[in-house]
Amino acid sequence: MAISSNTERGAWNSRLGFVLAAAGSAVGLGNIWKFPFEVEAGGGAAFVLLYLFFCFVLCFPVMVTEIAIGRKTKKNAIGAFDALGFPKWNFIGKIGILAGIVILSFYNVVAGWAFGYFFEMVTANFEIGAQFGDYTKDVFKIGLYSIFFMVATSFIVSKGVSSGIERAAKILMPTLIIMIVGILIYALTLPNAFTGVKFYLVPEFSELNLRTIGGALRQAFFSLSLGMGALITYGSYLSRKENIVTSAAMITIFDVGIAFIAGLMLFPIVAYSTGGDMANIEGGAGLIFVALPGVFETLGTTLGAVMGGAFFLLLSFAALTSTVSLLEVPVAYIVDEHKKTRKNAVIISAVIIFVLGLPSLVANGYSAFFSNFITYVGANTSTDFMTFFGHLADVLLLLGGTLIVTFAAYIWKKENLHDEIATGYEGYHDSINKKLIDFAISYLCPVLLGILFVLVVLSNFFGISIIN
Ligand code: PFF
Repeated sequence: MAISSNTERGAWNSRLGFVLAAAGSAVGLGNIWKFPFEVEAGGGAAFVLLYLFFCFVLCFPVMVTEIAIGRKTKKNAIGAFDALGFPKWNFIGKIGILAGIVILSFYNVVAGWAFGYFFEMVTANFEIGAQFGDYTKDVFKIGLYSIFFMVATSFIVSKGVSSGIERAAKILMPTLIIMIVGILIYALTLPNAFTGVKFYLVPEFSELNLRTIGGALRQAFFSLSLGMGALITYGSYLSRKENIVTSAAMITIFDVGIAFIAGLMLFPIVAYSTGGDMANIEGGAGLIFVALPGVFETLGTTLGAVMGGAFFLLLSFAALTSTVSLLEVPVAYIVDEHKKTRKNAVIISAVIIFVLGLPSLVANGYSAFFSNFITYVGANTSTDFMTFFGHLADVLLLLGGTLIVTFAAYIWKKENLHDEIATGYEGYHDSINKKLIDFAISYLCPVLLGILFVLVVLSNFFGISIIN
């Protein structure tokens, strides 16, 4: 089947642009907000090793497959399956777009909180941590931040692939690296820094159980932006000259590296503020939004404002390159399949997603309008909504990833996948990489991802805690 090429769609200007944009998609709240605590709760270095195994052995082949399908077809997450001649299988892309919409609806709210915290920090309002609950109930204020974030995301996406997404990634990603390395160096010079590092990384193999294994895989999928066609979409703008395998390796290393550094940066700061007593520190969402402002206060007003401001700006930048990729998935679909202009596609998608995010945004404020709905789904706070949507997203991403590799190996046929990977990669057909990818997509990924998917569904939605 002929694959049409539509020159209106846009393309990356360079491989670096693609890698930075895809790494920007990967590096986000998941790395800086979530990963450090998953590591700490999941057994320190033992969890990191498991996570690395999942990223490189199970997720990497999925990433290569997504990019290859996108590049081969030059189509969005749904249209790609049609273009390959398997329209019946485009439900995989539909699941992906649904996952993207669900994720962005709550992700944008948290990104708005982070952006708002930037202003709280630079004005030295360190008490905001203690007032986090009230802050999230201030629907007007966080609504504005959330709208601002969606508008910024929409603006970048509406500018197109190279002048919008790629250009933003080329500015935001290097800035993010400079900020994170700067804060890291500073954090490591604080008293008790090493206590924090030890707390973060000392391996506790006893903590490794099915729950942590499931957690590591979910985190890997979410963090690498896999299973929802984001990389099919980004891959569709990639030139045939580029090597997909090395690009995917760079994106994975980038993502894993930033997540790891985020923990190395956070825990020394926490250890400093508690005088090295790590017994009662708050984990998860609470650490960043509740405890961290107080931690910055201990640095003194000026330094605290600078470091706190830098940290939350870093978090906002990381989130922005991710929200951009989340919005691009439905936008590319609407542009390709419904022949709308990019601008209109952005407006349609952003409005729908923002509305879907309203429960997450206002649930803490108990708005009259939503109270019935809130009671109906049994959620009382924004975080409950986020947990619910987060669980749904986890499941959809794992399902999407399992189906994408299975489709590529057995329906599209792996010879076709290998031929696409070999384009831009001289010697691929004789390489060990081909053998490894072949084994992974034929057996390892479908079987292991499929089993883990079932376990995660059971635990997320039926309360059967084999894995949670
Ligand atoms: N990878 C992002 C993070 O770790 O925060 C979240 C994400 C972005 C997931 C884009 C999926 C996606 F398509």
